[in-house]
Amino acid sequence: MSFRIQPTAPARPNRCQLFGPGSNTKLFPKMAASAADVINLDLEDSVAPSDKDTARANIIEALNTIDWGKKYMSVRINGLDTPYWYRDVVDLLEQAGDRIDQIMIPKVGCAADVYAVDALVTAIETAKGRTKPISFEVIIESAAGLAHVEEIAASSPRMQAMSLGAADFAASMGMQTTGIGGTQENYYMLHGETRHYSDPWHWAQTAIVAACRTHGVLPVDGPFGDFSDDEGYIAQAKRSATLGMVGKWAIHPKQIALANDVFTPSETAVTEAREILAAMETAKANGEGATVYKGRLVDIASIKQAEVIVAQSELIAAS
Ligand code: COA
Ligand code: MG
Repeated sequence: MSFRIQPTAPARPNRCQLFGPGSNTKLFPKMAASAADVINLDLEDSVAPSDKDTARANIIEALNTIDWGKKYMSVRINGLDTPYWYRDVVDLLEQAGDRIDQIMIPKVGCAADVYAVDALVTAIETAKGRTKPISFEVIIESAAGLAHVEEIAASSPRMQAMSLGAADFAASMGMQTTGIGGTQENYYMLHGETRHYSDPWHWAQTAIVAACRTHGVLPVDGPFGDFSDDEGYIAQAKRSATLGMVGKWAIHPKQIALANDVFTPSETAVTEAREILAAMETAKANGEGATVYKGRLVDIASIKQAEVIVAQSELIAAS
């Protein structure tokens, strides 16, 4: 066990992040009325180069005029390899008021990428007397991003969340895939005649969760492109939740309820977690470090596992 205690991630629900292009203003009121915990208004890859200026102005107006309720408001800026990103940051911080909570930085490849945005954000906050600090979320979606995932998680006190962007990641890795997330046709083991499909995103997800948990950042699963495939989305989300991720993106409104359902601990899971905590209380009173619950071993580590589920459930109930 390390002498250094693991920091806790920000205490806010992040079960579903709903995306919408900044160029499509008719979606904004629908996004505001949705059940997503986080809204990501996009300036990056869902906006054509010729629409960047209009999309930026649309998002600023929407942040200032639409009632977004208690949603955590994030704007995805353009990548640091484009000519757009500095104007995104300057205009958002100077004109979008206090309703903007977070900037999402795409295609982050190293800690210095975050440092560059942090320097610009900090200068504008100070110059404009902004009192609410902007937080950051980043997308790991390149080979470099995954190779440097831990230094990226540690890169700034503004860091709150980190997502896996499966499509750009696959392209950067040279993976022979076209689907955005989920099962890939050619990634299987053969057992006799039977194909057992494996999960090509597993390593990237686990690396992201470990980096995030080390530095108190929320690990999030990114997009699932085929919005006609609910079962595929649910399977992917369940794998992510099992690995420690707290939520998943929605690129279509029908994915919101799916994410909220998977990332809200079920009543059965919460009841069982509370029963384990109670069993361990009794064990402790009897001077025992381990006991039996429903025919299986539970010990002091089980307390921590059960507390993760109870804490997540209480956080969601309180929001
Ligand atoms: N947020 C809120 N509402 C949305 C929405 C979104 N992201 N996407 C679609 N809707 C609405 C539609 O306006 C429509 O509303 P209506 O019933 O009032 O007419 C309803 O949901 C059904 O939409 P549908 O016709 O199935 O989809 P579409 O063809 O209008 O749009 C997409 C499909 C994929 C283009 C659209 O969902 C979209 O732009 N998604 C976000 C893409 C994005 O941001 N990508 C970047 C991150 S990867
Ligand atoms: Mg991307």
